[in-house]
Amino acid sequence: MPKPLHLIAACAENRVIGRDGRLPWSIPEDMAFLHAQTRGQIVILGRICFETWPAAGRDGRRAIVLTRDRSLAGENTLAVSSLTEALTQAETLVGDVYVCGGQRIFEEAIALPQAQYLHLTLVHAEVEGDRRFPEWRDRFTRVVSRRESADAHWRYTFLTLEREGVSALGSSVKQVLQPNSQ
Ligand SMILES: NC(=O)c1ccc[n+]([C@@H]2O[C@H](COP(=O)([O-])OP(=O)(O)OC[C@H]3O[C@@H](n4cnc5c(N)ncnc54)[C@H](OP(=O)(O)O)[C@@H]3O)[C@@H](O)[C@H]2O)c1
Repeated sequence: MPKPLHLIAACAENRVIGRDGRLPWSIPEDMAFLHAQTRGQIVILGRICFETWPAAGRDGRRAIVLTRDRSLAGENTLAVSSLTEALTQAETLVGDVYVCGGQRIFEEAIALPQAQYLHLTLVHAEVEGDRRFPEWRDRFTRVVSRRESADAHWRYTFLTLEREGVSALGSSVKQVLQPNSQ
């Protein structure tokens, strides 16, 4: 059995995750969450994401970067040419496997049967952008945890979702996420 995959992303209500090679927002609490959640684990990310997060291989993380540029390999950082190769490498390492994007890597990973968890920071806004997260609502239907938060500019919800049916508590993702369902 391959290791379960954790997808981790922050996306707007319209599923936008990026604009012009960067995040469309600056949410320090979300960056802190990403760093804490992945500390000591394996992170799989695309070359552009790696350029914006060169410390991906620090704090006990092992970074696996998808790129044609093998020279990006370094301390605690592997360079691979496909998601399949990344997952093969991840199986040889100790730790949970976090898929950190970008768009194509999320699209490929979410289609895999071992894509079991989604750690999603849902930013409650419609945001302009050029990169999107794939549709997740019908795939990750069990809400493991949910925490509301906000800063001066953004309101957002930290969600941990799991693939498979309806939660033991009976709350489906659609019930939990629709603003008027509370
Ligand atoms: N909000 C979030 O949670 C979140 C998460 C991640 C990213 N983002 C945003 O998304 C944007 C970056 O993502 P992106 O999709 O543009 O780029 P990306 O996936 O980070 O990097 C793209 C590059 O990665 C390599 N690559 C990607 N998929 C591959 C595959 N399946 N097989 C082989 N190589 C692959 C290629 O590298 P080479 O060209 O070197 O061969 C490709 O040019 C930024 O705006 C970033 O801020 C947001």
